[in-house]
Amino acid sequence: MADVSAMTQYEARLRSEELRSVINYHNRLYYELDRPEIPDPVYDELMNELRAIEGRFPELITPDSPTQRTGAAPLTTFDVVEHRVPLLSLSNCFTEAELQAWHRRAAERVGSDAFQITTEPKIDGLAIALVYEKGRFVQGATRGDGFRGENVTENLRTITTIPKTLTGEVPEQFEVRGEVYMSKSGFELMNAGIGEQNIERDRQGRRPLPLYANPRNAAAGSVRQKDPSVTAGRPLAMYIYQLGWCDGPRPDSHHETLQWLAAMGFAVNPEMRLHPGLEDVHKRIDWWGQQRERLDYDIDGVVLKLDDTREWDRLGYVGREPRWATAFKFPPQQRTTRLRKIEVNVGRTGVLTPFAVLEPVVVGGATVSMATLHNEGDIRRKDIREGDTVIVQRAGEVIPQVVGPVLSLRTGEEREWSMPAECPACGTAVSREESEAAYYCPNGSCPAQQIRMIEHFVSRGAMDIEGLGERMAYTLFDAGLATDVAAIYDLTADNLMALPGIKEKGAANLIRGIEASKQRPLPNVLFALGIRHVGFETARLLAEHLGSLEALLQVDAEKLQEIGGIGPVVAASIAGWAQRPENRDIVRRLVEHGVNPTQARAVSANGGPLEGLTVVVTGRLETMSRGEAEELIRAGGGKVGNAVTKGTSFLVVGADAGSKLVKAQQLGTRVLDEEAFRRLVAGGEESVEPPSSA
Ligand code: IVH
Repeated sequence: MADVSAMTQYEARLRSEELRSVINYHNRLYYELDRPEIPDPVYDELMNELRAIEGRFPELITPDSPTQRTGAAPLTTFDVVEHRVPLLSLSNCFTEAELQAWHRRAAERVGSDAFQITTEPKIDGLAIALVYEKGRFVQGATRGDGFRGENVTENLRTITTIPKTLTGEVPEQFEVRGEVYMSKSGFELMNAGIGEQNIERDRQGRRPLPLYANPRNAAAGSVRQKDPSVTAGRPLAMYIYQLGWCDGPRPDSHHETLQWLAAMGFAVNPEMRLHPGLEDVHKRIDWWGQQRERLDYDIDGVVLKLDDTREWDRLGYVGREPRWATAFKFPPQQRTTRLRKIEVNVGRTGVLTPFAVLEPVVVGGATVSMATLHNEGDIRRKDIREGDTVIVQRAGEVIPQVVGPVLSLRTGEEREWSMPAECPACGTAVSREESEAAYYCPNGSCPAQQIRMIEHFVSRGAMDIEGLGERMAYTLFDAGLATDVAAIYDLTADNLMALPGIKEKGAANLIRGIEASKQRPLPNVLFALGIRHVGFETARLLAEHLGSLEALLQVDAEKLQEIGGIGPVVAASIAGWAQRPENRDIVRRLVEHGVNPTQARAVSANGGPLEGLTVVVTGRLETMSRGEAEELIRAGGGKVGNAVTKGTSFLVVGADAGSKLVKAQQLGTRVLDEEAFRRLVAGGEESVEPPSSA
């Protein structure tokens, strides 16, 4: 967000005009077309900035400013319904301090801070008002702009959780309000169904039906269908959270009101809780922060209400928001920020991967200044440009990703990007193999590749050198002490003590770790060499065939292909590697140093970090192939699972993860991104708890 306090009035005028037009554009996409281009937290950010400007320069407020109304005017497709009592919105709190401030303000008006509070999950669906007369459902409407909504009665009749007739004694006429939503699983199934229809439509040469972006849009789109039979086929549900207006007496508390409505036949959320005070509310919010992924519907926060409804009138409203309620919003998993530039990372095998350098932004509670961009094709497809305002996403423990640019915020100064013609680390001309989408640096002595190579060589599953992690690998390379992997075995304690921060004990430990690594089994050593296409599983096959490290110097591509599980590409890669003089030199020096394992079978020294665990991999991984990830699991003593079940210990997710991630969230299975997974197999984390049965 721009620094509003430093703006001149002129700048503020320009910016507020721009924001109004952008917000109105997004309002139309969201409220009228159910086709938003930006995620809700990004929209909130734009609104907050406009509010901040209008707060500082009230003379700039215009009557048509989006801050002066909620939602959008109803669409003309449906009849208009005037709400007898307007449907308002809720203030938001993002921090504990804001929540306390809300509580303090309410306490001042109540005259005491000893009031009870209810909490309910804030479901991400659409607000609907239902009118009942003589116990029968007569009218249902969307919120619209709060005063006037759309009459969607016939569509709502198809939702089974909306009672058509009520039971027991009910007021003559009244209105209830609640949220119509679609479950996450229902949404997946529905989109899958549309996908199937599209295969058929494609065959018939018809246009594909659009897929919905998320359950909220799917719910809104489904409620506003012209044909109620289409709505009837959609998995919609509704929870009632409020009594709107009512002819006749009503209970004095919110929780009793909900119980009363439930007795009439309405569905009310069983997760509603009554709390003696704010401290108890904090606990519930923390609990929701951890548990919300387990729910089968999306929630974006927790709604707090004063339980005593007699206080509601006394407390009243600020603008369109009641003082007697507020919403605590979870930290957004998506934010926008500026993409400063796109840089390229050079991997161990020379593959070039672009990544985004961002203006730092807090996403899901962590500061993000870099995010993955996958590959050049992905950047093209999403039309991501340097200088763009981009949406950055972090879900669970997944590596931050750039979702895409916010096109409506383009200034025209953004720069299109393409892969550099030369390797950013060594300047060698970049190559691209026909069969592979990736670009790579063909220079085997490229310093970036060498550092990554050393990092790989010393890692768990490879030579597993204790005390030699990524940072140390870099330090050694930088100091000219580890020009290649074999040079690690030339290191002396004196060499190490000359490095900043390394004392006698540290040096002795490291030397001991290096000595111990000479005993690693052959598959680990072959894997450690980092030969392209040789993951742990291939290294195991190769070890059985070779029997010794020295035998690698005599390999022949044709013979290698006789090994089951090794095809022509892998065989050529191994033979090619073994022919290069610099590689032959490494093998010889390793053997001279006593790295000469004859043990052809992999053994885990102390059980391995994944001993007894079942791990499932899903999505597109950045720094390793699927096969390599699976080999790391096996090398760590774990089992590779195909599907997420109750017995899955954790799920490793890459980009564009789909149903497995959904399933893991439903089961509460732990989710790790690639980096966390690497740390775990490298022994950086003590243990992974088995899945709880809760
Ligand atoms: S109470 C005066 N309770 O959140 C407003 N709202 O801006 C009273 N929402 O669109 C609203 N779950 O549809 C309330 N348990 C809940 C809710 C809830 C979701 C939505 C509501 C509205 C927005 C508030």
